[in-house]
Amino acid sequence: MDIARNPSVAAENTQMADAPPEPQQPPLIRREDYTPFPWLVPQIALEFELGIEHTLVTSTLTVARNAKAQRSDTIRLNGDGLTALSVTVDGEPAGDWSMDGDDLILPLHGEAHAIKVVTAIDPSANSQLMGLYASSGMLCTQCEAEGFRRITFFPDRPDVLSTYTVRMSGPKAEFPILLCNGNRVAEGEGEGGTHWAEWHDPWPKPSYLFALVAGDLVANSGRFTTMSGREVELNIWVRAEDLPRTEHALESLKKSMQWDEQAFGREYDLDLFNIVAVSDFNMGAMENKGLNVFNTKYVLADPDTATDADFDAIEGVIAHEYFHNWSGNRVTCRDWFQLSLKEGFTVLRDQLFSQDMQGEAVKRIEDVRILRSAQFPEDSGPLAHPIRPDSFREISNFYTATVYNKGAEVIRMMRTMAGPERFRAGCDLYFERHDGEAATCEDFIRAMEEGAGLDLEQFRLWYSQAGTPKVTVRLEHSGDTATLHLSQQVPPTPGQPDKQAMPIPLRIALFDRATGKHEGEQLVVLGKAEDSFAFTGFAEPPVLSINRGYSAPVTIERTVPHADLVFLAAQDDDSFARYEAMQELVVSHIVAAAGDGLDDAARAAGRAAIRTALAAILADAALDDSMRGELVMLPSQTYLSEQMLIADPGRIHAEREGLKAWLGRELESEFVALHLRVSEIPYGLEQAARGARKIKTQALVYLAAGNPDLAAQMAKAQYEAADNMTDRQGALMVLTGLDSAARTDKLIDFYRRYQGNELVIDKWFTLQAISLHPHAIEHVRVLAGHPDFTLRNPNRVRSLYMAFAGNPHAFHGESGEGYRMIADLILALDPINAQTAARFVPSLGRWRRIEPVRAALMRQELERIAASDRLSRDTFEQVTRSLG
Ligand code: ARG
Ligand code: ZN
Repeated sequence: MDIARNPSVAAENTQMADAPPEPQQPPLIRREDYTPFPWLVPQIALEFELGIEHTLVTSTLTVARNAKAQRSDTIRLNGDGLTALSVTVDGEPAGDWSMDGDDLILPLHGEAHAIKVVTAIDPSANSQLMGLYASSGMLCTQCEAEGFRRITFFPDRPDVLSTYTVRMSGPKAEFPILLCNGNRVAEGEGEGGTHWAEWHDPWPKPSYLFALVAGDLVANSGRFTTMSGREVELNIWVRAEDLPRTEHALESLKKSMQWDEQAFGREYDLDLFNIVAVSDFNMGAMENKGLNVFNTKYVLADPDTATDADFDAIEGVIAHEYFHNWSGNRVTCRDWFQLSLKEGFTVLRDQLFSQDMQGEAVKRIEDVRILRSAQFPEDSGPLAHPIRPDSFREISNFYTATVYNKGAEVIRMMRTMAGPERFRAGCDLYFERHDGEAATCEDFIRAMEEGAGLDLEQFRLWYSQAGTPKVTVRLEHSGDTATLHLSQQVPPTPGQPDKQAMPIPLRIALFDRATGKHEGEQLVVLGKAEDSFAFTGFAEPPVLSINRGYSAPVTIERTVPHADLVFLAAQDDDSFARYEAMQELVVSHIVAAAGDGLDDAARAAGRAAIRTALAAILADAALDDSMRGELVMLPSQTYLSEQMLIADPGRIHAEREGLKAWLGRELESEFVALHLRVSEIPYGLEQAARGARKIKTQALVYLAAGNPDLAAQMAKAQYEAADNMTDRQGALMVLTGLDSAARTDKLIDFYRRYQGNELVIDKWFTLQAISLHPHAIEHVRVLAGHPDFTLRNPNRVRSLYMAFAGNPHAFHGESGEGYRMIADLILALDPINAQTAARFVPSLGRWRRIEPVRAALMRQELERIAASDRLSRDTFEQVTRSLG
């Protein structure tokens, strides 16, 4: 029937035309609604007939009633875009199943059954990169969090643990290598050039840890003998041309296995450990049991193509995924609200590992820098959530710096309060008690209370309250007593207007100004809204060093004389506190200058104090260059903006660049001499040579601001002399920000030299997108049309647009063009790869904290995205939260 002729429908239509079109709201899932699944699935047998465009999946589930759950006479098998070709129960075709949305509902009346379901999928059409997909000719999977339901119908939730047997077959020429979780138990040849392999994983696991890889791969292989004498075969699987760049990954894996035995008493539990590198990957890597799948970015490295930072990141991510074998796989999560149980803990474990491998001081500073630039903005914006969230619409949106990095800080605080030995005892109890289970954050806290002997009653607030606490500090001195007055304030966040005081462990030291010494560090735990702590034996007012080692993830607010900060920057024996004093000196200066403004005298005094501190750092012969590199680094624009209630990105940028240029001119001869000294040190992987490379480019950065012509010459020379990527990329970064003839020359040279190497060409895109060049935004626009650019590869998308969104002067350009560009990207990418598209929303979501003109432009772009009626669940959730 023609709708227009039916009066009732026509009337309804008119009414609807007045109301704005309501997009279909994806349901809100709540932590408090958790109920156990009515069925257990002790076993699953999977059969894959593999093809890039057509893969047939036959899945046989053995199910039995779960005595610990409410009885149900149906079973819900999650699906996502699947069609069931056949459903059989106990060998008989089932006629009574139905679909509820994407899920398959099947009536089951007995105590135990065998359910067989056949599905067909097209991996080549899977651009979301969740489930089974194709990447440069091979097949691979990503199932965390809810990708398994894109392969077959299954209770796709982490508290359903099964033993997997998998048989796969396919054309041998196309897929000579067939990999899955666990051990290969059989293999053979089939008809018509096919072959098959059967794998068995003896460890029960949730579906998110399933993985399969089929392709033309070669391995760099090694062995590791565990502490109890188990011989483990290790393989790093890559495309043949990438084999020469796998040694570092293999070595990192061996170090990780060794370290987890020694530091946590955790041993590997299979005879085989495989890592596969894949070019198309949404995240960094994935800890599937016995078969880790990695973004190539976190596997491939050699000195010619990877920077020192790349080498370190590979070591850290290999460790992270390996450590998940215990913190994540042997003990997994009950539901996705508990994500930080495995991620926060595993991040802490990888941080402690990297501290041991790369040096504690510098690693700690780097980790705090990441927390401040990635997590603080989350915690102070519309997307703020506790490390254990209370609700979500799309779980992929909660793989955040809050869950990961703040989660790690929260567990680190427990370690600080307990001390390393008692913390280890708590961890041992946790692993012992929950091995083989799907656990909760509460289980972890309880194991820590009992095993480490901590009272964590009030500490649990760190799991439920969002927002970065602010601690206000005042040191009072009278007679021979120094009194530390502390107060805390946890800011309101969406859905949490009122907060309770949390226990905040602060490591402190009080320095004698004259001797430059202190009587030992102390741990002060601020557990109330306000508290005071008295210290006697100080005839003169001491210099306070607080939150040493960054013992608590808070911001410290205090008014301190410049002289105290210069003192601490020059001689605090805690490296982090030394770095922090330098940061505080610069932050307070720039925030004042970009906020209310500074008069000439105040500006001169502020700059002079920074110059004095910086000169002392440059001249300190006892300092290693790697640490020097940290101390001279200016706070990022993001971190600076965080310090202001309403930030003006233009003014902050101008003040920060102005200060850098002034310092570059004032200390020009020092920076030139430093550059000369470290340029003499030959390439090597030892600390001294790595430090030399780090500070070399830092010197150029200051000089580029102060004396661009001289810096362009030096950068050109550094580029030409470079025998490694760290020096070459550093020099090109500096050149890319300058208007010089060498800029174009070297950009062309770099491209030609590395054409075809995806990861290095990513760097080439990034350098132009993050550049200080005034036309950076035009460059990005042109690069988006470059033949090497594609929306289909997440690394490439991020290399251009994530880099651009993090480039303040370009992204926040006054015209609003930067905002438009990111909104256009989100709309174009959302149908292709929703998970990656949604990750760009937070950059626009910051609008409330930006000055009104830009804020309006940002909001307008969010509204333009929201107006689209075909948004993914991922982007819909992020955009509505950002506007809400
Ligand atoms: N568990 C992985 C890791 O932290 C991350 C996987 C996240 N995947 C996703 N689709 N959100 O190592
Ligand atoms: Zn992880």
